[in-house]
Amino acid sequence: MGNTGFCLALMMAVLLLHFVVSFSTKTTTNISTDRSALLALKAHIVSDPRKMLETNWSTATSICNWVGVTCGSRHQRVIALNLSSMLLTGTVPPQIGNLSFLTSLDLTNDSFHGSLPIQLTNLHRLKLINLLWNNFYEEIPSLFEHLPKLQILDLGGNKLSGKIPLGLFKCKELQILELAGNNLEGILPKEIGDLTILNSLSLRKPNRSWSIDTFICNWVGAACGSQHQRVVALNLSSMFLTGTVPLQIGNLSFLTSLDLTNNSFHGSFPI
Ligand SMILES: *[C@@H]1O[C@H](CO)[C@@H](O)[C@H](O)[C@H]1NC(C)=O
Ligand SMILES: *[C@@H]1O[C@H](CO)[C@@H](O)[C@H](O)[C@H]1NC(C)=O
Ligand SMILES: *[C@@H]1O[C@H](CO)[C@@H](O)[C@H](O)[C@H]1NC(C)=O
Ligand SMILES: *[C@@H]1O[C@H](CO)[C@@H](O)[C@H](O)[C@H]1NC(C)=O
Ligand SMILES: *[C@@H]1O[C@H](CO)[C@@H](O)[C@H](O)[C@H]1NC(C)=O
Ligand SMILES: *[C@@H]1O[C@H](CO)[C@@H](O)[C@H](O)[C@H]1NC(C)=O
Ligand SMILES: *[C@@H]1O[C@H](CO)[C@@H](O)[C@H](O)[C@H]1NC(C)=O
Ligand SMILES: *[C@@H]1O[C@H](CO)[C@@H](O)[C@H](O)[C@H]1NC(C)=O
Ligand SMILES: *[C@@H]1O[C@H](CO)[C@@H](O)[C@H](O)[C@H]1NC(C)=O
Repeated sequence: MGNTGFCLALMMAVLLLHFVVSFSTKTTTNISTDRSALLALKAHIVSDPRKMLETNWSTATSICNWVGVTCGSRHQRVIALNLSSMLLTGTVPPQIGNLSFLTSLDLTNDSFHGSLPIQLTNLHRLKLINLLWNNFYEEIPSLFEHLPKLQILDLGGNKLSGKIPLGLFKCKELQILELAGNNLEGILPKEIGDLTILNSLSLRKPNRSWSIDTFICNWVGAACGSQHQRVVALNLSSMFLTGTVPLQIGNLSFLTSLDLTNNSFHGSFPI
């Protein structure tokens, strides 16, 4: 009996400790954390010809008044960062992962380079990542299983290499996926069929090493629209493809759009 009582007391103590620890870790981030994260980002900008951040991101004003920064009304934390088309050159520091309320990150059309920081995995609230037209390189880190709310991912027009990480296909909310204009290799994995609400997919990169795979949902350019991996759209335009148009195309009974323009297919078209 005494033993059971002791065990119970110990369990309560452990639970309480757990609660206190998780409660305190949850409260250690505040707007000051966001401020240091943004100042770290500013410190990693090596060129800012229009002096956008240089003059505007002044420590004398609240970060919520900084250009490109949006704070949520409820928590007064940074929920969106939009530095698009500001002619900025620099890298994204790991501290970006401290903007724990961030839902939208838009760095379109700047000259950010380096690799994508793995600390983005901390930002579970992210719905949009738009890094279109920058110079990010190296592989796409496998961070996506930690971003369950992601709806838009645009990494087009960078210098990313390697394979598309499979974790990406765990983002069930993904609606727009743009990876065109990188140096990605391989074929589209069949897991693309898991993205049931994906409505826009672009992977186009002319690369002769890409070939038509036997399984149609593995095709570069194929968008499989349902759990049953039914291809609804197939866009293989400008991919340097040669050979005959595969007979399987005729079996794509759910196909609503087919674009094979600007290739070197020959032979007859399967009917
Ligand atoms: C933010 O939290 C730190 C401790 O983590 C504290 O020292 C600071 O006063 C807090 N700042 C605000 C604005 O609440
Ligand atoms: C920074 O830019 C914002 C938005 O353009 C503006 O409202 C604010 O007054 C500017 N702050 C400073 C210090 O220039
Ligand atoms: C970022 O700002 C640009 C220019 O103001 C705008 O066109 C774009 O829609 C914004 N991005 C987001 C995600 O709101
Ligand atoms: C990219 O940014 C530059 C500089 O702000 C701007 O002149 C250009 O129109 C932008 N391009 C697009 C496609 O938004
Ligand atoms: C922010 O991020 C950096 C790097 O990831 C980390 O070292 C730091 O402890 C984090 N926390 C705060 C409150 O700045
Ligand atoms: C095509 O991709 C392969 C790897 O898949 C790469 O080695 C090759 O350099 C790429 N070719 C071009 C023209 O980009
Ligand atoms: C196929 O992709 C090309 C290049 O991205 C685009 O110009 C074309 O409009 C697309 N075709 C269809 C039918 O969407
Ligand atoms: C045809 O494809 C090649 C290689 O991708 C590209 O350079 C060219 O611009 C394309 N032409 C048209 C008319 O789309
Ligand atoms: C098309 O589907 C039919 C019926 O399922 C099958 O017998 C045939 O082999 C398929 N054709 C190709 C080219 O895959």
